[in-house]
Amino acid sequence: MSEKTVLKLAKVQDSDVKGKNILMRVDYNVPISGGVVSDDTRIRASLKTIEFLLESGCRIVLMSHLGRPKGTINPKYSLEPVAKYLANMVKAKVTFAKDCVGPETDQVVSAADKGEIVLLENLRFYPEEEKNDEDFAKKLSSYGEFFVQEAFGALHRAHASTAQIPRFLPGAIGYLVQKELEFLDRTIIGPQRPFFAVIGGAKVSDKINVLNSLLEKVDGMLIGGAMAYTFLAAQHTNIGNSKIEEDKIEEARKIILKAFKNNVEFMLPADHLVVKDIELGTPKEFTQSMAIGDGWIGVDIGPRTEAIFLEKIKLAKTIFWNGPMGIFEREEYAHGTLLLANALKEATHLGAKTILGGGDTLSAIKKADIPQEAFSHCSGAV
Ligand code: 3PG
Repeated sequence: MSEKTVLKLAKVQDSDVKGKNILMRVDYNVPISGGVVSDDTRIRASLKTIEFLLESGCRIVLMSHLGRPKGTINPKYSLEPVAKYLANMVKAKVTFAKDCVGPETDQVVSAADKGEIVLLENLRFYPEEEKNDEDFAKKLSSYGEFFVQEAFGALHRAHASTAQIPRFLPGAIGYLVQKELEFLDRTIIGPQRPFFAVIGGAKVSDKINVLNSLLEKVDGMLIGGAMAYTFLAAQHTNIGNSKIEEDKIEEARKIILKAFKNNVEFMLPADHLVVKDIELGTPKEFTQSMAIGDGWIGVDIGPRTEAIFLEKIKLAKTIFWNGPMGIFEREEYAHGTLLLANALKEATHLGAKTILGGGDTLSAIKKADIPQEAFSHCSGAV
């Protein structure tokens, strides 16, 4: 998005919000363990806008998704723990609505006074949310007179609460979205070169848009994580029993071709850490090439790949990193991801601009014990 586009979007602080009923989309897709929020980064990120609206005498109805419950009610994905957590972070009354639409929610919302907050239950308990359903968006819109978009991590989703509501309500972007877009404008548009992207994570399907858009901008792209196996399969390389997305092989091939056409150095892992059984973690070995033998499963990048990726990172003046290099949640498969986190920290120290994005990437730097301040910019979004 260009600077001009960002400037065209109304900002919440320049909008007529005084005393209004605000409907605000946030990204409270936060980790919860044992019924308690275990990482509050995304909640804290929304506080500046919430406080501004409270000071402006508004009633705020917050809505978010949590996880991927696939259109069914699943208590594991309830936002109730988030409401409890938020109540301790703001000086306003926070009420949790046990549904995101319906007569009971209508009552909860109308009972809330100005200066109070209502957090609606997970939007994705309704299939209509991900189907970008117009009627669902209309119902949600009845909870406000003005819409504030603050869900930076979910902006790329064409869902009812992100894409449809602006059709029913006037709106503006909050402070977090402004900050993120302004940063991206300054760095990704007109970056210092060479500009490298390091992309990992499980699925090509989650990152098709990111990959395509980065291929218009970067000089090189380093691919790790399970998505690398889908790309290798697209190049007819044996990937043993590694997890791939069969239905995305064609898409992966198009991405490789686009990189070639755009003169982008597109690097897949040159070797891998492989196991026969992910749970057992044994037997374990490094492959001698990018091919993975029959019966083996890739779980991390190998030492040759690490060395090649580190060389590229040393050369780069701008680096965008999204997604782990392997199953980093398991100590024995985390080496590539943690090494990368440290290499990017060092690159920042030496003057490169480093931009990190995505929940898993932020968890990885936490695991590496590196504070977010060690990088140029960390964003919760993809
Ligand atoms: C995220 O954590 O990346 C955002 O909240 C978007 O979640 P989603 O990938 O399930 O749409």
